[in-house]
Amino acid sequence: MSDFEYANAPESKAIANIAPNYGLFIGGKFVDPKKGKSFSTINPATEELLSKVGYGDKSDIDAAVRSARAAYTKIWSKMPAKERGKYLYRIARIMQERAREFAVVETLDNGKPIRESRDTDIPLAAAHFFYHAGWADKLEYAGFGSKPKPLGVVGQIIPWNFPLLMLAWKIAPALAAGNTVVLKPAETTPLTALLFAEVCQQAGLPDGVVNIVTGDGITGAALVNHPDINKVAFTGSTEVGKAIARSISATKKSATLELGGKAANLVFEDAAIDEAVEGIINGIFFNQGHVCCAGSRLIIQENVADEVLEKLKKRMSLIRVGDPMDKNTDLGAINSKEQLNKIEEISKTGDAEGANRWSPDVKLPTKGFWYPPTIFTGVTQSHRIAREEIFGPVLSVLTFRTPSEAIEKANNTMYGLSAGIWSDKGAKVLWAAKQLKAGVIWSNTFNKFDPASPFGGYKESGWGREGGRHGLAGYLASEAKVNK
Ligand code: NAI
Ligand code: MG
Repeated sequence: MSDFEYANAPESKAIANIAPNYGLFIGGKFVDPKKGKSFSTINPATEELLSKVGYGDKSDIDAAVRSARAAYTKIWSKMPAKERGKYLYRIARIMQERAREFAVVETLDNGKPIRESRDTDIPLAAAHFFYHAGWADKLEYAGFGSKPKPLGVVGQIIPWNFPLLMLAWKIAPALAAGNTVVLKPAETTPLTALLFAEVCQQAGLPDGVVNIVTGDGITGAALVNHPDINKVAFTGSTEVGKAIARSISATKKSATLELGGKAANLVFEDAAIDEAVEGIINGIFFNQGHVCCAGSRLIIQENVADEVLEKLKKRMSLIRVGDPMDKNTDLGAINSKEQLNKIEEISKTGDAEGANRWSPDVKLPTKGFWYPPTIFTGVTQSHRIAREEIFGPVLSVLTFRTPSEAIEKANNTMYGLSAGIWSDKGAKVLWAAKQLKAGVIWSNTFNKFDPASPFGGYKESGWGREGGRHGLAGYLASEAKVNK
């Protein structure tokens, strides 16, 4: 008990005007699914029903792809690039105007703290549209040849961990490059994508340029296998990514795949320890650890390990877990019962294989899906918790004695999405960064994102890059093949 307790500071739900039912967004209108099926989306912090959304099947996907093709052929591919850019600017500005509403809906549907949806997800999503709006009429000066051409119709499938932000990562570059899209949101977090559909209407975006079909993996597979899409852009599990790669292998479709990770966060003996502790906390507990680039393997130099762990535990005891709508909350709800089961299952193997579990004393709400911030020490490289993506607030701690051992351990993974280096010595940071097999490497910080910076992985973390000039290349006909 500290002298001063935090008073509750709940954000109001009043701004979120969630409809009881949503159709599919096809051809600029909300339409009922052809078979009339729907599914529920709930608030994972309370298990309350938020809305029923349309379940799209193969025939709905076909209608959406046709609408995207017609919009591509008749309108979007003929429109001067400058005009395309104007629509993207308009969308970005409307997202900013409606930012509070988006943040509330995201937090209700996903379970993430309002502080994160308000300060990270929504501003970054708008930033992606602003950034790509600027590219729309400059593609011919960007080293893609004198007349860069779009691919056509792109099928996009996104996960539930950053619903609106992943939508922005997908839709903004695709439209800037002159493509039209069919996007399938994740089944547990469809609402901000449907709100985005309203934004497209509000911006006067020509009908069919953006189509949004809600559903599950079957809906996603129908999109991947539709014969008239030119590219698949996917973010999600490595398992589904591999299935997608197999199903498009004998086709002309190109792909970008953003898959899993098991990032190493390396703390050297000369690091500024207090800052490193903040970075470790941000690396693994941001967004409940539902982050593909989460710093889920902490690898500390042995002679500072005790100090780091002591400070880390003290800091973890200050994490406020609970109501995601409270502006004080640091760690919100786990996104779904399935994900909670997965976190529990893999974490239990940590106990069984002999690692030592520690969590601060936190009181978890009785309703909804929750997991306390957790660390495992005494982890070895063969433990499942050191190898597999847990995708939750669970940190595995390993140690090293020499810098080369640190690199070896860091690279001993099937993934290679991100890594972190904590050291006061610039030369050591550069030395380590050169050898780490990871797409993004942060030095003395973690989980920092910018639309201008390419993001993507090595090995089983995926194909291609998203963001920046590199990401744009994946949406242009002359360049996209490099992604396959
Ligand atoms: P998932 O990969 O099954 O789902 C991601 C998206 O793909 C969803 O929209 C889903 O409907 C769609 N999908 C599922 N099966 C498909 C198929 N056969 N063809 C086309 N689309 C398909 O991920 P899930 O089940 O939600 O999470 C499982 C695990 O995957 C998590 O525990 C986590 O470890 C990992 N994951 C990693 C993410 C990342 O960003 N790296 C994001 C989400 C999950
Ligand atoms: Mg939900």
